[in-house]
Amino acid sequence: MLNVAFVCLGNICRSPMAELIFKKILNEKNLAKNFNVSSFATSCCEVGNVIYPPAKRTLEKHAVEGTHVSRQLTLNDVKNNDYILVMDSENLRDVLNLTNGKYAEKIFKLLSFADRPDDVADPWYTRDFEKTYQDIVKGCHGFLNYVLNEKS
Ligand code: 4NP
Repeated sequence: MLNVAFVCLGNICRSPMAELIFKKILNEKNLAKNFNVSSFATSCCEVGNVIYPPAKRTLEKHAVEGTHVSRQLTLNDVKNNDYILVMDSENLRDVLNLTNGKYAEKIFKLLSFADRPDDVADPWYTRDFEKTYQDIVKGCHGFLNYVLNEKS
């Protein structure tokens, strides 16, 4: 079992999108039983809130199902996961602040698995939910290929 946690600032746009997209990819490949997938916020701003409606609509447009309620990442969550996949450089800094620099070996920017150093732009600000969706899909496929190759 591989434990994977996606992390963004509010856990109402990017990281729950990534969680549900990755779960869909795993289901399609019959791999869901091998993974435990979750998502978290670095901030407490949106704790208890559901996925932001424009993000949810974008998922629905692409037939990605599921719900999520925002929760804040703790040190235990970092310890209990094998991979912490953050959306941008600010998330990376915030998670490393939480861990005092520990566990850096399992904390990655999602798009590093799409061979890009970029951030997944925050659609809360860009309002381009489709671009966010497409970037997350690329990152999730790249990450899955990486872990499957690592295990074989
Ligand atoms: P997310 O987007 O980090 O992708 O969930 C945001 C959601 C809410 C806020 C910022 C970013 N906010 O400031 O409330």
